[in-house]
Amino acid sequence: MRTHFCGLVDETLVDQDVTLCGWVDGRRDHGGVVFLDLRDHEGIVQVVVDPDTVEAFATAIEVGYEYCLRVRGTVRVRVSVNDRMKTGRVEVLAAEVEVLNAARDLPFALHETPNEDMRLTYRYLDLRRPQMQRMMRTRIRLVQALRRHLDADGFQDIETPILTKATPEGARDYLVPSRVHAGEFYALPQSPQLFKQLLMMAGFDRYYQIARCFRDEDLRADRQPEFTQLDMEFAFVKEADVQGYVEGLVRDVFAEVVDARLENPFPRMTWHEAMRRFGSDKPDLRIDLELVDIAEAVRHVEFKVFAGPANDPNGRVAALRVPGGAELSRKQIDELAAHAAKHGAKGLAWMKVDDAAAGSEGVSSPVAKFLDEAALSGILEATQAADGDLLLFGAGPWGTVSEFMGALRLKVGKDRGRVENSWKPLWVTDFPMFEHDAEAGRFVALHHPFTAPAVDDPAQLVADPHHAVSRGYDMVLNGAEIGGGSIRIHRPEMQATVFELLGIGKDEAEAKFGFLLKALRMGAPPHGGIAFGIDRIAALMAGTESIRDVIAFPKTTSAQDLMTDAPSAVGDAQLGELHVKVVTEKGSD
Ligand code: AMO
Ligand code: AMP
Repeated sequence: MRTHFCGLVDETLVDQDVTLCGWVDGRRDHGGVVFLDLRDHEGIVQVVVDPDTVEAFATAIEVGYEYCLRVRGTVRVRVSVNDRMKTGRVEVLAAEVEVLNAARDLPFALHETPNEDMRLTYRYLDLRRPQMQRMMRTRIRLVQALRRHLDADGFQDIETPILTKATPEGARDYLVPSRVHAGEFYALPQSPQLFKQLLMMAGFDRYYQIARCFRDEDLRADRQPEFTQLDMEFAFVKEADVQGYVEGLVRDVFAEVVDARLENPFPRMTWHEAMRRFGSDKPDLRIDLELVDIAEAVRHVEFKVFAGPANDPNGRVAALRVPGGAELSRKQIDELAAHAAKHGAKGLAWMKVDDAAAGSEGVSSPVAKFLDEAALSGILEATQAADGDLLLFGAGPWGTVSEFMGALRLKVGKDRGRVENSWKPLWVTDFPMFEHDAEAGRFVALHHPFTAPAVDDPAQLVADPHHAVSRGYDMVLNGAEIGGGSIRIHRPEMQATVFELLGIGKDEAEAKFGFLLKALRMGAPPHGGIAFGIDRIAALMAGTESIRDVIAFPKTTSAQDLMTDAPSAVGDAQLGELHVKVVTEKGSD
């Protein structure tokens, strides 16, 4: 149908006959001549339609935006060169213009960015926009580069089932009813976790898969109900083997795909240090602000809000110094307090430092009256506050304070332009093995239940599960968790112990994970691995905040596909075959 791509027409083709196909990106009528900008996946070229070519001209004056055309013509040098266009030194003088398809009732102009619902409803139009094409191509190059490296390095690309049994990763499962087994369900995989472990037990040594994962969880800009992992597993490894290999992989791929230089080696930080200094298990190291503990300085004060947590081993009193922040208005500080409240804060105390040398005379703060000179100088010293700074204080349970102060750090960093334009990767290690769910009165796995603890002996784990550290690790880049993995449990006794600690009884463990426990008794090698969020890495590479921009057909934050209108109701006959009855809540239908 065509001889060349629009975006690749150049001076080497001058005087040649070419046939192009593409969409009308723009049309201008000038002095009886029609100029069409014809766009394809490679770019745009100008087509000139002269009234002398009667038929072509008659067609050209009828066409509108996004008409799909085939144009035959001759390449010639352009009189008015346009250096902003790749093809700006040439144009095509049309001999024939054929309308392959008209485009009517366009819901939006492609040169604008309409609201996202509109974009998702007409995703095929949205994806035609050059910025979307660019972002999607970045993702494609990322996946190509990953495959190239992994194939060359001896990783085996193996597919694992989509219709399977639940693998817990902390979200709800998507279930698929079985027609042949009435009342039974498959679960869609939250990750290929158990299958990749079984592949190591099966002797494949090194595995990877670009794997689709399904998780029914609360969605955000960086979370989709189905998303893609680069899933990897290695046999006969320790942490350093996995981390060393994948760190090099990530560095190489960033250099190849977006010409970014990531430092070598990546910095490392324990989970505890990350929470203490940055109030996050995925710290954004582009922001130079840090949390400072001030419990020492306020332990003795009357002010219970501070003294309570300062004297409680599970409490925390932390300060965030905002350089130059004394200029913030009450309204702006109230906004910060509201942001902290959204992340669990019961209140947010603050202090403007006008003259640090003048002690209580030199600060203004609603809590100054509760603090004596010793507390004040202790705070100023710990935070290294200078004149003109603002201090924000959080007090309460350690986890809560860390979290809302971490959220404030991000907000203040962004609002005040303190985000360095750079790539800041790091490893976060030494995660707690368990989190205690006070409401349910039991432990939950912080990573997943197959992650090995740092101790080798099950008895040691049982002795002090509250302080158990896991052999898990996350890779973080610019404040996004781009990958997570661990060394796995490879002995049945330890796996059974962890199930027990998680409140999974013997019978339940046997019913859900009997196949794993059995395999662990048949010569399972030590193994470990990691999974990277391809969507998140692609979004970072493409410079967009939302992973929806690098997924061709994403879902909304309420898990809908607006284009196909999924999910949708199905007929009674189909439900009957699946042995499913829909029960609507009383009062609704
Ligand atoms: P984890 O649950 O940490 O680990 O997932 C690995 C990576 O996948 C990405 N990710 C997501 N991306 C988009 N939308 C989501 N809903 C979503 N959830 C997770 C993140 C995350 O770091 N089986 C383990 C891996 C292992 O232990 O090897 C697992 O799935 O970037
Ligand atoms: P209150 O004693 O609740 O009136 O609070 C006195 C001051 O302490 C106010 O400025 C509150 O914003 C602040 N404050 C209250 N609770 C906390 C908290 N958990 N962390 C930090 N500041 C708080």
